[in-house]
Amino acid sequence: MAKGFYISKSLGILGLLLAVAALCTIVALSVVYAQEKNKNAENSSTAPGISATTPATVATTVDTTVDETKAWNQYRLPKSLIPESYNVILRPFLSPDVTGLYIFTGSSTVRFTCKEATNVILIHSKKLNYTLKESGHMVALQSLGGSPPPVIVKTELVERTEYLVVHLQDYLVVDQQYEMDSEFQGELADDLAGFYRSEYVDGGVKKVVATTQMQAADARKSFPCFDEPAMKATFNVTIIHHKNYTVLSNMLPRGPSTSYDSDWNITEFHTTPRMSTYLLAYIVSEFEKVESVSSSGVSIRIWARPSAIAEGHGDYALNVTGPILSFFATHYDTPYPLNKSDQIGLPDFNAGAMENWGLVTYRENSLLFDPQSSSIGNKERVVTVIAHELAHQWFGNLVTVEWWNDLWLNEGFASYVEYLGADYAEPTWNLKDLIVLNDVYHVMSMDALVSSHPLSTPAEEINTPSQISELFDTISYSKGASVLRMLSSFLTEDVFKKGLASYLQAFEYQNTVYLDLWEHLQQAVNDSGIVLPCPVRDIMDRWILQMGFPVITVDTDSGRISQEHFLLDSEANVTRPSEFGYLWIVPISSVRNGMKQDDYWLEGQQTAQNDLFKTSGSDWLLLNINVTGYYQVNYDENNWKRIQDQLQTDLSVIPVINRAQIINDAFNLASAQKIPVTLALNNTLFLTQETEYMPWEAALNSLNYFKLMFDRSEVYGPMKSYLRKQVTPLFQYFKNLTSNWTQRPPTLMEQYNEINAISTACTNGLDECKELVTRLFSEWMNDSSNNPIHPNLRSTVYCNAIAEGGEEEWDFAWEQFRSATLVNEADKLRTALACSNQVWILNRYLSYTLNPDLIRKQDATSTINNIASNVVGQTLVWDFVRSNWKKLFEDYGGGSFSFSNLIQAVTRRFSTEYELQQLEQFKQDNIETGFGSGTRALEQALEKTKTNIKWVKENKESVLKWFTENSQ
Ligand SMILES: *[C@@H]1O[C@H](CO)[C@@H](O)[C@H](O)[C@H]1NC(C)=O
Ligand SMILES: *[C@@H]1O[C@H](CO)[C@@H](O)[C@H](O)[C@H]1NC(C)=O
Ligand SMILES: *[C@@H]1O[C@H](CO)[C@@H](O)[C@H](O)[C@H]1NC(C)=O
Ligand SMILES: [Zn+2]
Repeated sequence: MAKGFYISKSLGILGLLLAVAALCTIVALSVVYAQEKNKNAENSSTAPGISATTPATVATTVDTTVDETKAWNQYRLPKSLIPESYNVILRPFLSPDVTGLYIFTGSSTVRFTCKEATNVILIHSKKLNYTLKESGHMVALQSLGGSPPPVIVKTELVERTEYLVVHLQDYLVVDQQYEMDSEFQGELADDLAGFYRSEYVDGGVKKVVATTQMQAADARKSFPCFDEPAMKATFNVTIIHHKNYTVLSNMLPRGPSTSYDSDWNITEFHTTPRMSTYLLAYIVSEFEKVESVSSSGVSIRIWARPSAIAEGHGDYALNVTGPILSFFATHYDTPYPLNKSDQIGLPDFNAGAMENWGLVTYRENSLLFDPQSSSIGNKERVVTVIAHELAHQWFGNLVTVEWWNDLWLNEGFASYVEYLGADYAEPTWNLKDLIVLNDVYHVMSMDALVSSHPLSTPAEEINTPSQISELFDTISYSKGASVLRMLSSFLTEDVFKKGLASYLQAFEYQNTVYLDLWEHLQQAVNDSGIVLPCPVRDIMDRWILQMGFPVITVDTDSGRISQEHFLLDSEANVTRPSEFGYLWIVPISSVRNGMKQDDYWLEGQQTAQNDLFKTSGSDWLLLNINVTGYYQVNYDENNWKRIQDQLQTDLSVIPVINRAQIINDAFNLASAQKIPVTLALNNTLFLTQETEYMPWEAALNSLNYFKLMFDRSEVYGPMKSYLRKQVTPLFQYFKNLTSNWTQRPPTLMEQYNEINAISTACTNGLDECKELVTRLFSEWMNDSSNNPIHPNLRSTVYCNAIAEGGEEEWDFAWEQFRSATLVNEADKLRTALACSNQVWILNRYLSYTLNPDLIRKQDATSTINNIASNVVGQTLVWDFVRSNWKKLFEDYGGGSFSFSNLIQAVTRRFSTEYELQQLEQFKQDNIETGFGSGTRALEQALEKTKTNIKWVKENKESVLKWFTENSQ
């Protein structure tokens, strides 16, 4: 699955707040729903009772005291039965039945082999109502050859563990095959999970799509199945659908559809390869497509709403898919495993995208691109998400991890190679550099907390659907990507690719644990003659089995280097033990005065000395070239000083990624009280001469923390003056480069930094900038059918114009949002609407977010987060959350609402004792209701608030003084 977020390139400091909120929208799955269901099942004394549709009622077993020795009370399937193949026939009704319910009916047959004698069959089933067979049971059992099947004693549904349980009179025979049939009915709900429905309006008419999202554990909501990733099987999918609709699935149809009756057709699909249930997909819609054939003969199709296709919004995706598929086929040295690749943009979709084998599903904004109204950031989003999902078609789909505890390998890998695939499709964009900002630095800020956790979790600790959902976090995606990039870098990409190809070929159609990959990489290392200080596994254990990362401290006087677990809160107590004592085996690259030196390994010891790290005179030393290592670096004060001198005399000697690193690392070190905050601020002085995106972005990201801590205090005035002073040359640079903002600069990075220039200048009060955005916005208001604002600049212009403006500007933007036909445009407006400075306007907007007719359910959390990120809106949202938690949690827990993001967004500015008290009170008041997916976020918020209080206390005076002195 792709991360459900992207970094907005468009808003500068104010925008960064919003972007941070969006960034935190990482957890693509909501765990609340599952948890609530579990809780209900456990607590209710009277069984809610799932009944069969016809002819009789089947009782549901709801235990109040759970007997853990019973297999059906355990979340993990026993290994006694192994599925081989399924026939699944499904018929979705795209209009409601007489009771107003949207339903689907289905029947399925599963063939499985008995591997260990058992007298009970457990198969996953969730929210399905079964039609009883003549026998009075929910299933019928046949044996294939050998002895006849045992008699069924009873069948029951266990809601807590989501099983259909078949109790048998006798044991199944080892090595014998059986087939089990059932007929069932489920709701085609709008809950974005399993087989669900999505709605959109086309030409004023409401349209319905039936679609799927199985990951992680919702295939069982569509048909009974052994719903674990290692239970691979082949699937024969058949869909009965109204004749007007098109149907898609993982495979191509076996032939033309046949008639079911005068209105309905039957479409049978080819048997899938052996695959996991979570990768299944089937979609019934009235969508249209654009198509082509790749150089290796794979049929490529992009599907979307007919109007989007007609306007060409699928064309960009179509153009990049072929190159990306062929890039990965080469990269993996393995052909694309299927003969077709469908990708579809859905109006309602929870995650960013989902890598279903051969039928990838996307949010519209991650697949569709309109050159007229989409920004370069939207385009980057599309190409990287496509690369991410297509990378999974091999890594994840062809070879799948055994169990969800290794999710980090699957997602971390895709999050790393997405940059390689996207770079191949857009070779002039330098996309590979961006992983440093988007993943490495982003995740470090979380991994530096004591509440972080190791990448790898023991399999036995992950059992329930909500435990699985919790794994879809930033650590899995971004730290996974960061450490795999580091590994590839010290092995060299060639060796990494050799090991990777051998791993994929050895395990195709099977399952693995992460150690299997290490083993194949080790083999490639052995064949290559590369010398490592110890085996791949020993190096990587330290990075994946212990949380956090080291800070490497260099003393250039003595050449001594040392490592220490980096924690943002220097006084925090690490309670989580590590068998490696929080020491790492660290690959260290370095530059001296612009010359690269030999690579070095810090081999797990705390300190070492080497002349590589010793300097004299005015020599400066810089570690971690291009930030390929997952660590931060600190130097003695003199070396910092010499780096600053170099930056201010000729910054081009230092690689651009390292200019970003110098800023990022220094601010983190200052937060951790390892260097004075003024040293970090001094590292931003060179920005008057900097025109590159990455250093600016790192600075704006780092200073965003200052804004959060100080934008309600007297520090904010001098801080704004300083930033205004620093950004003015950049603003003028882009004004010239773009002929007074009438053209766009040539490269992606320049286009991004143009946006930074405008948003930073505007939010820090540069009059020329405010005039620019106000003028552009009013030109649009005067002629709403003719938007003169370039798509790249829209987010920042809208936001700043709305912040400068009043009701009239807001209402205009709201009208434009309501009538926007393009999701990219709607998203920009929806975000900008949260930029108002007026309390009553924000309050009204907040009330809109819980009305699905005004703001789509999938967008509710991110909109609330946007409002909370605005200094004016944050108190409103906090009051709202405090007074409505129970209601929010109970009414709105269904599916897409992420409580963890909400808690993060609303507590981000907390830095006073009073706010800490409020937060503690909030925790106490709602202990009974619980915090669901927000549980960890709440603990993190408490920790973060305490850190903030301390930080503000200690730094406010010196920061105020520094900004005052440096803003002249
Ligand atoms: C699915 O179809 C394939 C090919 O026709 C067949 O070999 C397999 O047995 C079918 N699966 C089931 C469960 O019938
Ligand atoms: C399943 O049965 C329950 C209980 O009778 C009922 O409330 C629900 O609507 C049924 N679902 C479907 C899809 O028929
Ligand atoms: C199917 O399409 C026909 C012709 O376009 C139309 O008249 C009919 O209303 C459609 N039926 C449904 C159920 O959409
Ligand atoms: Zn993914």
